[in-house]
Amino acid sequence: MNKLKAIQAGAGGFGNAWLNAMKEHPDGKVIALVDTNKETLHRQAACYGIEKNHCYTSLSEALEKEKADILINVTPPQFHKEVCLQAFEAGLHVITEKPLADTMESAQEIVKEAEKKKKKIMVSQNYRFTPWAWTLKDILAKKTAGRTGYVNVLFQKGPKFGGFREEMPYPLLIDMSIHHFDLMRFFLNSDPVEVYTKSYKPDWSWFKGDPSVNLIFVFKNGVVCSYNASWVAGGIETTWNGEWRFDCSSGTLLSRDDRIFLGSGTEKIEEIKLQSFNLTGQQYTFHEMAQALREKREPETNAKDNLKSLGMVFAAIESAKKHRVVKCA
Ligand SMILES: NC(=O)c1ccc[n+]([C@@H]2O[C@H](COP(=O)([O-])OP(=O)(O)OC[C@H]3O[C@@H](n4cnc5c(N)ncnc54)[C@H](O)[C@@H]3O)[C@@H](O)[C@H]2O)c1
Repeated sequence: MNKLKAIQAGAGGFGNAWLNAMKEHPDGKVIALVDTNKETLHRQAACYGIEKNHCYTSLSEALEKEKADILINVTPPQFHKEVCLQAFEAGLHVITEKPLADTMESAQEIVKEAEKKKKKIMVSQNYRFTPWAWTLKDILAKKTAGRTGYVNVLFQKGPKFGGFREEMPYPLLIDMSIHHFDLMRFFLNSDPVEVYTKSYKPDWSWFKGDPSVNLIFVFKNGVVCSYNASWVAGGIETTWNGEWRFDCSSGTLLSRDDRIFLGSGTEKIEEIKLQSFNLTGQQYTFHEMAQALREKREPETNAKDNLKSLGMVFAAIESAKKHRVVKCA
């Protein structure tokens, strides 16, 4: 099959990661680049060999002039709805960066429009698409440590991003925790029913909004998952995946520093070797979308399914605001 032709909107920090991932991709090629910042646009285009006549500061002009199959949306969350809707209108499928949108209403509108225009949209929940996540998922599915009873997740980092994240009201929950919440659904193969959140801002925080939360989700399968996370941790940090501890009916599964350990209480703790895969991260996202288009099926982490992960974010925020338990949709 011919490679899919992609227009990429957004060439900033993570746009760079996408351009890199698409450099030698077996399923597709970025044929045009869009960024509202001229300097970023031309700097990135030059790095990745995209010619000037395929560079645009206006998405509508790019959609008018380029013949493409798919749009890769790597703009900040507040622009996701307008960018996705323009792409559908022009007849393109979309891969969008997480979070699907900055509000639940916008996310629902994106899903509705995609259905109306019969276009596919996948959210790049790339934290699922790693040897670490696939290995953990496999051990949990095989019940090697028995039935999962409760889960503790610890995420502690102190990044100084600058830019849009430092202005958002709930930067950690909206821009970061979406990955961890989506992983909870992936690992537990279940959806949450309720959440209780304490959201806060330590006094040394450099974010306008709350960069820290302690919360508890209860899942349909009865599993209780507690999540303690912060973006203003100093000194000792976890990895971006965080530390995960699954306590199960006949043992414990622990992931620390992205290494996975299995302990049964009586035998020696065993380190599990990570499985290896050809394509991971954004490269896998694009491959999965291309496969879904070939096979005329919905891709994994399609936007409709992703509403449940994004719903966890907004239920957690509502709980933080109301100081009470909130049901998840
Ligand atoms: N999956 C991951 O692990 C991961 C990691 C980092 C960022 N992200 C996501 O990627 C997206 C972008 O984040 P970033 O860190 O690259 O932000 P950024 O601010 O570094 O870059 C965004 C770029 O988009 C451009 N832009 C803004 N509006 C635009 C529009 N309407 N059309 C075209 N270009 C536009 C800006 O000029 C900027 O160059 C966000 O949704 C973020 O959450 C995902």
